[in-house]
Amino acid sequence: MAGEDSLISNVSDTARWVAAYRAVETTRPDALFRDPLADRLAGERGHAMAVAAPRIMRNGWPVVTRTKLIDDLVATSIQQGCDRVLNLAAGLDTRPYRMNLPEDFVWVEADLPKMTAEKDIALAAEAPRCTLIRRAVDLADADARAKFLDAALGPVGPQAMPATKALVLTEGLLVYLDEGTVADLARALTRPEIAWWLADITIGMKRTRGNTSMFENAPLRFEPTNGIAFFERLGWQPLEVEHLLVHARKLRRAPWFLVPFTYLRQPDPHAPGRYPWSGVVRLRHSPENCGMRTRHPT
Ligand SMILES: C[S@@+](CC[C@H](N)C(=O)[O-])C[C@H]1O[C@@H](n2cnc3c(N)ncnc32)[C@H](O)[C@@H]1O
Repeated sequence: MAGEDSLISNVSDTARWVAAYRAVETTRPDALFRDPLADRLAGERGHAMAVAAPRIMRNGWPVVTRTKLIDDLVATSIQQGCDRVLNLAAGLDTRPYRMNLPEDFVWVEADLPKMTAEKDIALAAEAPRCTLIRRAVDLADADARAKFLDAALGPVGPQAMPATKALVLTEGLLVYLDEGTVADLARALTRPEIAWWLADITIGMKRTRGNTSMFENAPLRFEPTNGIAFFERLGWQPLEVEHLLVHARKLRRAPWFLVPFTYLRQPDPHAPGRYPWSGVVRLRHSPENCGMRTRHPT
């Protein structure tokens, strides 16, 4: 296994890598979002990771497209009455500093202790646009996670009110957890205060990304061959299923050599099998099938 001096020495370093793509997007005149803090947070190391990444993702299209889709779905959820966001594995994400959020809105971030400590220091002089709470927690530890969820959904913020319609975001987290931990997380998030779960799902990337030694210290683990059916079996029904590469082409971020694939019939996200598929899904817990809406089917 690569050592501490490798570009990615542990899973938290991947937060620098994705921040670098947001920083580059921010410099474009036609930027899909602007994240002015991303460049500093990514640092030289984050930018070096972006340059060293496999060619298939080097221009950052998966992260940029995912960020834009998630921005839009967070905004939609708030319009639909969301009263709290829990960003699990927030990494170096800066949405509370850059999105248009109500001042009294409560946004809770969680990540591993070293990451939250680094972010506290890096952003100490910046003012979030809402009430921001940052907590250190290992989300793979069931007891620590349960305590965190109880506190994060409880009476906090200026009004000291408990959440009633929370959105949980797990952007870039699930791939680093094993299948059993993702299933436990899905059960732990099944609570009346949580209205939606917004996640990205990546299948078939082990072959393209996992083979490079750069990611040796942050291996991909969760790639369910039954796609979003994995979540449906645990009672989480998709409200939106957004295919990343198809959106990347529509947003003019797909690399030219992948564009032709976006016009082919896409794998069924319920059963992609061994075909690569990555997307963003917003899920709602309901034992009954509430139907799937795909905004941009091909
Ligand atoms: C690819 S980064 C994504 C960060 C952020 N969500 C974003 O999209 O910019 C993965 C993040 O997952 C966090 N992470 C991985 N395993 C974790 C765990 N067991 N508990 C808490 N955070 C974890 C890492 O520290 C890192 O910040």
